[in-house]
Amino acid sequence: MVAPSSLARPQFARHVPPTATPLRWQEWQAGLHPAQDAVAQFRRALASYLDVSDCALAASGRTALFLLLRTLCDRPALHGRTEVILPAYTCPSVAKVVLDAGLTPRLVDIDPYTHAYVDGGPAANAGPATLALLCVHPYGLALPVNEAMAVARAVGAVVVEDAAQALGARYAGRAVGTHGDFGLFSLGPGKPLSTGGGGVVCARDATHAAALARTWQRLAQPGVAATGWALARLGLFSLAFHPAGWWLASKAGAHKVGDHEASWGYALRGLTASQAAVGLRLLPSLDAINAARRARAQAWLEQLQGLPGVIWPPAQGVDGEAVYLRLPLVLQDVERADGLQARLAAAGIGAGRMYRRTLDEIFPALRGAAYPGATQVARGLLTLPTNHYVDSRDIRRGAAILRQALADM
Ligand SMILES: Cc1ncc(COP(=O)(O)O)c(C=O)c1O
Repeated sequence: MVAPSSLARPQFARHVPPTATPLRWQEWQAGLHPAQDAVAQFRRALASYLDVSDCALAASGRTALFLLLRTLCDRPALHGRTEVILPAYTCPSVAKVVLDAGLTPRLVDIDPYTHAYVDGGPAANAGPATLALLCVHPYGLALPVNEAMAVARAVGAVVVEDAAQALGARYAGRAVGTHGDFGLFSLGPGKPLSTGGGGVVCARDATHAAALARTWQRLAQPGVAATGWALARLGLFSLAFHPAGWWLASKAGAHKVGDHEASWGYALRGLTASQAAVGLRLLPSLDAINAARRARAQAWLEQLQGLPGVIWPPAQGVDGEAVYLRLPLVLQDVERADGLQARLAAAGIGAGRMYRRTLDEIFPALRGAAYPGATQVARGLLTLPTNHYVDSRDIRRGAAILRQALADM
């Protein structure tokens, strides 16, 4: 998977991005002349990949989530319910979408060891006002949702699996996102399969799927400008997430974009035919891309075995098959995270810090309780890159830097 020439590239220009998705010229070019029914073809291909009867596509994961939540509000069985249970640490745009949909996020702490809800958290927070419990598969981890499903069934709510970062991850042999009542995926920049932007929702049962289809019938279709911009964005993101471009992009603050409100807006429209055509070309490679990410995560884990003061993600047992979009580690001494990130960056390795604040810190209206697990992740998270630009030399160098830095601090 690793281009031998990458070893010879001068280090000053090479800066491995924290996340990236392979995109070849011919895949991008597929977007220039899409078939008229490209969106329908891509939708069928994704449904078959996920082994569900159908799915719905939109301009972004945020758009898809917004439409899903509005669909849920209109379901007679869920009428009058106003709360959505969310992890206190997750992508802030998710909380923004919940608020935009006129609903109230109800935050639940997460366990920094598993990145899932703390034991008993969903049960303690769900009730007659709960519309949905959102279960996230962060960093491409494959987490069980059975506890959330049991709670949802007990209170009459639904489970939405947020697999925005985990397309292709599997749990107990089935794609994550297909265990809950609904699954959400993102096709945004740096995701397992990226069309430069895009979102997908699938439903587990036929009644829910029919309700989604009714909402989607009213969705505006993108015009020519949106199509051109989507292709240009995809090209620009591929350049920015290239080892030569990332140095410049990170100097311009690209690594902080997701943490900033300016990037949380979303258009209420469908996916463009161009993006669908690119997605169709990429989808057959997705499992191989994910397998290569897994192998790099494994190589990091082997190199970093026994590293003190670090909380690793749960070992994926027989049931879980993570895709490791990034390999997360949480530092027990949270003060060290920025220093470690800076040392890796100085060596040309882009480690991520993701969102540095918990949702209640970002949205003052959500303050009220303490979320110690989420706070520890927000302060101490470092994600190691697993993308196709990372080679075995980067991993050996990165691991040596981390060991040394932790010994020095
Ligand atoms: C966990 C999670 N949920 C939802 C989203 C929103 O997806 P999109 O950027 O496609 O709107 C993201 C995006 O990064 C995410 O990481």
